[in-house]
Amino acid sequence: MMKMYILWLFFIQILLHVSISNSGKVPAIIVFGDSSVDSGNNNFIPTLARSNFPPYGKDFPNGDATGIFSNGRIATDFISEAFGLKPIVPAYLDPTYDISDFATGVCFASAGTGFDNATANVADVIPLWKEVEFYKDYQKKLKASFGDEKAKEIIRESLYLVSIGTNDFLENYYTQLERRMEYKTVQEYEDFLIVLAENFLREIYDLGARKISLTGLPPMGCLPLERAINIMGLHSCVDYYNDVALEFNAKLGCLVSKLNKDLHGFQLVDANAYDLILQIVAQPSQFGFEDARVGCCGTGRFEMGFFCDPKSPFTCKDANKYVFWDAFHPSERTSQLVASYLIQKHIGKFL
Ligand SMILES: *[C@@H]1O[C@H](CO)[C@@H](O)[C@H](O)[C@H]1NC(C)=O
Repeated sequence: MMKMYILWLFFIQILLHVSISNSGKVPAIIVFGDSSVDSGNNNFIPTLARSNFPPYGKDFPNGDATGIFSNGRIATDFISEAFGLKPIVPAYLDPTYDISDFATGVCFASAGTGFDNATANVADVIPLWKEVEFYKDYQKKLKASFGDEKAKEIIRESLYLVSIGTNDFLENYYTQLERRMEYKTVQEYEDFLIVLAENFLREIYDLGARKISLTGLPPMGCLPLERAINIMGLHSCVDYYNDVALEFNAKLGCLVSKLNKDLHGFQLVDANAYDLILQIVAQPSQFGFEDARVGCCGTGRFEMGFFCDPKSPFTCKDANKYVFWDAFHPSERTSQLVASYLIQKHIGKFL
């Protein structure tokens, strides 16, 4: 039973070694997306989609609740570190950082957002088009600080990590009426999102981005929140949502092939962790976990954001024994496994 777990630990050791001998091919990690990769931008906008209070961040050295939706670091942080860069990718809106910090890593992501503008409106967060506006602003600052030549090199050689889409389904299509009236079947809505994804990817290509990792949907029917309401299914994963995720990921895969053919020099990678996460949820003990059904925070069934109460007597002691930190987001340990898997399977070629 422990074999798989030990294999993973071994792999992480290799990663650490690789990061030390990294020749610096990737000058920066640049992040777009939602709460799976937001390192704190929502702290600086008026929204309730926040996590900058305990018990979030409880496993950071000082228990700092930086606005990351986890007990500790997230996958993009581990990837950044493995590439010999910062252990934490700083949030662009955080005024304690400046362009010299952002030159080696920057995060434009916003918890609660999606490909669809209407998704960002649900919780008043940063829509994807606005993340791109911030990215343009970032490019200007790079040029002002480092000169055109160096700025262009950073833009071209950096690794872009894009993780977004779950909220379009779970926080928008299946919970708000507007899009369901407009797109009668979920397949129609998926196709609409694929067009938006294509527009976004073409736009950042036009702005100079070349090395891009696009992470599709996780098995979203296995998020504790969805399991909690699956009463008829005895709190097993909601197969229907997992099927939607698989269908959407397949469409993203086709988009990736198409754009790599269409756009000269584009190195877009279809990097989803669906299979790994499903495997972890199905056999948590093989990966060193004790629980995959509920999150650590509170009862683990519905709490996230402000519902994740620092005084809850139910919050677990050791979050890294849980696959999920809260009802929607992975624990630091899961994020570390996901990062290792993505590097091994999809983005290691950029190392
Ligand atoms: C999303 O909103 C932005 C800003 O208002 C707009 O430019 C863009 O066209 C919108 N996208 C869609 C698909 O409606």
